[in-house]
Amino acid sequence: MRWFFDMVSPARPPIVSDAVLRDVAAIAALHAASFRRGWSDDEIEGMLLDRSVVAHRAAIGSNFAGFVISRMAADEAEILSVAVAQRYRGRSVARTLLRHHLGRLAALGVHAVFLEVDEGNAPAIKLYRRSGFVEVGRREGYYMNTGGKPAAALVLRRNLV
Ligand SMILES: CC(C)(COP(=O)(O)OP(=O)(O)OC[C@H]1O[C@@H](n2cnc3c(N)ncnc32)[C@H](O)[C@@H]1OP(=O)(O)O)[C@@H](O)C(=O)NCCC(=O)NCCS
Repeated sequence: MRWFFDMVSPARPPIVSDAVLRDVAAIAALHAASFRRGWSDDEIEGMLLDRSVVAHRAAIGSNFAGFVISRMAADEAEILSVAVAQRYRGRSVARTLLRHHLGRLAALGVHAVFLEVDEGNAPAIKLYRRSGFVEVGRREGYYMNTGGKPAAALVLRRNLV
């Protein structure tokens, strides 16, 4: 019946909270569905147990809708991955997740956040630009896209102070 309530109820806002070990399987499944190289359950469990890693999850109702994971080093952090389940994309879930996540990183003393994104990933680039990230570098031929020519990675940065 969940699908029925999703269809008839107006879009519900995502609820963001810390990702915990019981989210491992949902994160692994969403990561595998969103990226060419998936993360194993063990890799994700290792990250969630790592004190330098900050991870958040978004839920819509009782459904897992997305996640974001960063690793901190001194006063900087790198966003390792962000993904939103296909059925919830375009509903500001990632924007809400990222706002919450960046607030938490700032509270932990992080001054600058970096990430790499495929230059052809329009939704992600729009998300990051709207969230205040600016381009600070470019790695040519970084991503090997199936069937196409290699794509550059854009290196983006957002200052938190
Ligand atoms: C990138 C991703 C996380 C965005 O999630 P989302 O919840 O759909 O994003 P939001 O709804 O919060 O939208 C954020 C911005 O991106 C834009 N956007 C969303 N989907 C888009 C699309 N298909 N094409 C162009 N822009 C898009 C939105 O319009 C919004 O911009 P706006 O505020 O100017 O309107 C999601 O598409 C995803 O999981 N992709 C696969 C994994 C991935 O590529 N992750 C990023 C790796 S670096």
